[in-house]
Parts: sequence; structure tokens; C-alpha cells
Amino acid sequence: MQIPRLHPDTIEQVKQRADIVDVISEHVVLRKGGKGFVGLCPFHQEKSPSFSVSPTKQMYYCFGCNAGGDAIKFLMEIGKRSFSEVVLDLARRYQVSVQTLEPEQRQELQRQLSLREQLYEVLAVSAQFYQHALQQPQGHLALNYLQSSRKLSIETIQQFGLGYAPTGWETLYRYLVEHKRYPVQLLEKAGLIRQRQSGDGYYDYFRDRLMIPIHDSQGRVIGFGGRTFSDEQPKYLNSPETELFNKGKTLFALDQAKSAISQMDQAVVVEGYFDAIALHAAGINNVVASLGTALSLEQVRQLLRYSESKQLVLNFDADSAGTQAAERAIGEIATLAYRGEVQLRILNLPEGKDADEYLHTYTPEHYQELLKTAPLWLDWQIQQILANRDLKQASQFQQVAQQMVKLLQQIENRDTRNYYVGHCAELLSLGDARLVPLRAENLLAQIAPVKNYQNSKPVKRQQAALAPTSSLSPTTQAFPEKGDRSLLEQAEALLLRIYLHCPEHRQAVSDALKERDLQFSLSHHRFLWRKILEVTSEDSRQEIIHHLAIAQPQLDLISHLQLQCLQSEEQMTQISHLFHVDEKTQHDMLRASQVIQATTACMERVLCEKRYRHFLELWQQTDPTTEPEQAQFYYQSLYTEQRRLQKLDRQRQFSLPDLL
Ligand code: UTP
Ligand code: MN
Repeated sequence: MQIPRLHPDTIEQVKQRADIVDVISEHVVLRKGGKGFVGLCPFHQEKSPSFSVSPTKQMYYCFGCNAGGDAIKFLMEIGKRSFSEVVLDLARRYQVSVQTLEPEQRQELQRQLSLREQLYEVLAVSAQFYQHALQQPQGHLALNYLQSSRKLSIETIQQFGLGYAPTGWETLYRYLVEHKRYPVQLLEKAGLIRQRQSGDGYYDYFRDRLMIPIHDSQGRVIGFGGRTFSDEQPKYLNSPETELFNKGKTLFALDQAKSAISQMDQAVVVEGYFDAIALHAAGINNVVASLGTALSLEQVRQLLRYSESKQLVLNFDADSAGTQAAERAIGEIATLAYRGEVQLRILNLPEGKDADEYLHTYTPEHYQELLKTAPLWLDWQIQQILANRDLKQASQFQQVAQQMVKLLQQIENRDTRNYYVGHCAELLSLGDARLVPLRAENLLAQIAPVKNYQNSKPVKRQQAALAPTSSLSPTTQAFPEKGDRSLLEQAEALLLRIYLHCPEHRQAVSDALKERDLQFSLSHHRFLWRKILEVTSEDSRQEIIHHLAIAQPQLDLISHLQLQCLQSEEQMTQISHLFHVDEKTQHDMLRASQVIQATTACMERVLCEKRYRHFLELWQQTDPTTEPEQAQFYYQSLYTEQRRLQKLDRQRQFSLPDLL
């Protein structure tokens, strides 16, 4: 639906009338706290509330994940809806009359809105009709099928609103038109009935089928899938495309899965309705089903909005056609994956089972385990390339290498590509580390021309490319650019602030520094730290108190430091801001342990990266044919540092994705 541009007055009125506490408390349990309300943040998983709502400012803010904004923003985020949609909804709710910029568009808008509302209504009523029929004698077979063959509980049947479309050509038609007085055209537009070819009268679209309602992400019925119990074709009949229902844009069970997806930070896509239903019934709730079509970018984007780190697992059948199925289903996501915009994993269940069948034999824990170990899409493709191949045979080796080149060529993210070049080179070396550089060079030569290498000395660059990089996972950034001093400065400053302003975390800061064997790198930070150590040593404390004859022995660390640093004017100008608590620090203080972990990981990373570059240089200068041992040693060291870098990246990203 095209939404005409809303009149600014309308938006303004909506903003004034909509009350944020009212709006948010429909989604979050709020209790009074401080000047406003607090609750568990709906945008990330947490056990203690860091989500606050201020009625005076009409704003919300989460100290855990930094989500924040006004009522409109909240509804946009929580429902993944557009600005106009939210404003229109709120307008209706708060009885603000909708004005568009062009008055003549107004009527059209009202008309469209009301058609959609009516479609939602008639679809909801139909879903109830089917649900009711399932409980009647006529639905007995269907119910029996669900409970016996599908092993579904009554709760699950109700949770998914499963139903039965009776036999007979006009059952639903009569009910809706004759009994409920809905207009025939509306039913037709909803995809529930069809006109007879003779042009004379209508018949029900779904007959003698098990009915699975399909909901939009807000839980409104927009269509149905109907499964036959017999051999009738098709096995599943789906609603035709309507104003509300678009197969390529819809994901089955998203309404039930979205909160689990954000909590688990991962979305699973299965092929069948019943796969999704069975997984939900087994307590695995971050699951949606595609509707038998290749996943569209829009579907993936919808899903990824709920997963902060963009993790997507495709669980497709792994029968002989399964590989193709996965590749087909991946469709447009491939581009996202090659760019590193989605962490795509592929899960093929053993014995070619689909998830529903799998759960008849195995436990949900088994499935969870498989989810955890599912290979990244690129690794999965490499596995496919290697499957049933014998690399010791020249012709097969050739084929494998060629397919690898084809795959590597598509990877756009340079660090990811470099990593996989190294990985493939290793695989092709069959355990002989001395061969790795040679294999890598061969691969690289074939991948060319690649822009990134054009302007540099070829040999050296190629070697550098082969070296492991820090980005095992396609979406993590490689090193921050060399000399990214500001990041380090931020990290150090933040750590010092935590130390200064959170006495209860001081020990943890000291411990973390000791554990990681860290020093502050920036001289003014080093200066401050030295002063801190001086001041906190008990002697000097007593001395100062004595000396200055300060009345309160409780005089805090900050005041001591300020007194101590007064003489050092130059440093003072660089560190004085650390003595004050700004708004950001206040937020950070609430999650001090994460901040400590992230900042110290960031600091350690700088050291680690230095070592990495050092070994890289040594390795590049070593000729593996004349000095194999040495080359191997450097290569090994590179790997060790690389792993450490990855671990540190996880630590700083996991704890504070947006901060450092
Ligand atoms: P499958 O054929 O893999 O069936 O279709 P399934 O999900 O395992 O079904 P059961 O277990 O035999 O009941 C996967 C999905 O493809 C779509 C449906 O969305 C189905 O869930 N599909 C399949 C259709 O739309 N039409 C069909 O005729 C078949
Ligand atoms: Mn199945």
C-alpha cells in the first residue's frame, strides 16, 4: 500500500497525544523507578531491568543496549514498521484525524485503510471458523492426524490456531456471506473464495484440508496454508497473493519467533510449516519457515532486524536435492553473505531428515547442539566441494581447486577472502605446511584480477593475503586501521573513568589490568594511573589528610587526585575531564563489568596486533623452501596471535557492540 505523505500537523498531533508510558507498557512490564518507569528491555536479553521510560521527557532509553527514542521510534523498532504506519496506527488509537499533504489523497487513504482492516477481520473470522470445524465431528480425521501422525499437543494446535476446512464447496462461503453478511468481493479479495468458471456463483478455495493460518509479524492472519491428508495435489495449497498476503515477503511463525530471535540473537529458517511448528513445540522458538520459495532479501532483512549480530541458520533438507535446495533457498542472501552482512550458517540434519522428522527420533537438545555446530555458509560450501573427492588424484584435485577459486572470487569482504584463501590453501596442502604458501599463491593468481592488489608489489601482497587475518567470522571487522589511536584513547579513558567513579569496581579494574599484563599507552593516562597508585597507597593518603588538615577523612579519591595533580598543569588539562561524570559515563557505570572487559580487551588487542604484525613481517621475509622450520614457526605464531585477536574481538564486541 502506498501511504501518502502525512501532513506535519498530523504527525505533530500524534506526538502530542500518544503517551509513551501507555504505548510502551503494552509491550513491556513497567514499574515505577526513579523519576520514571523501568522494565526489562525488549530489544535485548537481560535479567535485571536497564530499560527506562521517562514520562516527562516522553522518551525511553536502555542503559544496556543504548536503544532509545520516543513513542513512535519505539513502535517502529518493536514492530519493525515504517514511520507512517506507526503514525497512522497511533492516529487511529488517539483519535487524531489524518491529514495528508494533498487533501484529495485523504479519501483514498481512508478507503485503503478500511479495506485492509476489513480483510484482516474476515481472515480472522475464517481462521476461527476453521478452528471450530476442527473440533467438530467433521474435523475428527484432521484432529486425529494432528495428534497421532504429527504428535502435536492440544496446546500446540491452539497456539498455532490450526484448523480444518470442511469438505463441500460452499461451507465457508455460506457461513461468511449468508450468516455473517460479509460482502462477496471482500472474501474474494481475501483469497478465501473463487468465482466459478461458469461465472455463476463462488466456491471455497480451501476444501477438506488441514488449515494452517499464516500471520504477519504482528500476529494478524493474512493467509492460510492448507495441507491435504490424501494424495491430492498439491500437498500444500496456499492462499493466493492478496492485498495482505505476499508469499515472498512473509515468514511463517515470525510473530511467535521474533522475541526469541532477539533474545537468542539468532534466527533459524526451516522449509516446512510443520518443521517450524514442531520446533516451537519442542521449545526452540527462534524458528520461522519460508513458504516454499527462495528466501528474498526482504524476508532476510525482516529476520535480521531482530538479530543484533545478524546470525541466520538455514535448516534445509539434506537429501540428494538438499544441496540444491539450500543453494536455491539462499537465493539473494548469497550477496549479503559474500559481503559479510549476514552470518549465514547451514544446518543439514543427518539422514536427510527435516526438523519435524528429526524430532520424532532425537531430542530438542540434540537439535540445539547441531544448531551450535552448523558450519558457516562458506565453510559449508567448501565441505560440499570436498565431499567425495580424492585430492590425491590429479584430476579431482584440479576440479576442487577450480571450484574453490570460483567460490573465493565471489567473496567481497577482503579479510574474509584472505582468510579463506589461507584455509583453502591448507586444505589443498593435505597436511604439508610447507606447501601452503605455494597453494595460496596459486589460488590468488587465479582469483585475480582483484582491485585491492593492483597497486602494490604482487609477491609481498600475496603473501600477506595468505597470512591468517583476524576475521574468521565474515562479519567481524579486521583490525582497526593502524594507528587507530582514538579507539585506544577512548578505551583507556573509559576504564579510568570507571575506576574513578565506581569504587566498587576498582578492584576489578586492577585485576583486569594485571591479568592481561597491560599498561596504559597514552602518556597522560599513564600519568594519571601512576598518581592513582600513589594516592591509593595508604601512607600517602594519611599524609595528605594530615598535611592538609582536611576535616573529612572520607575525602574521596578524586579530590585527592585533583589536589595531587594540580602542579602538573599540562597533564591536568588532558585528564581533568575524566574527573567528571558525563551522561555517557553514567550509562557505562551501570554496566561496569562489561565495560571493563571490553576496554581491557581493546587495550590488549593493540599489543596483540603489534605482535601479529611483527610475525607477519618475519614470515614474509622467510623463504619456506630454504628455511622451512623458521617459516613454519612464524606461521604458527601468526595463527596463535590471530586466535587471540579473534577472542579479544569477541570480548569487546560481545560486551559492548556499539562502544568500542
Ligand atoms: P515439503 O514438501 O518439504 O513438505 O514442503 P513438509 O514441510 O515436510 O511437509 P510434510 O511434513 O509432508 O507435511 C516444504 C514447504 O514447502 C511449501 C510449504 O510451505 C511446505 O511447508 N509447499 C510444499 C507448498 O507450498 N506447496 C506444496 O505443494 C508443497
Ligand atoms: Mn515434513
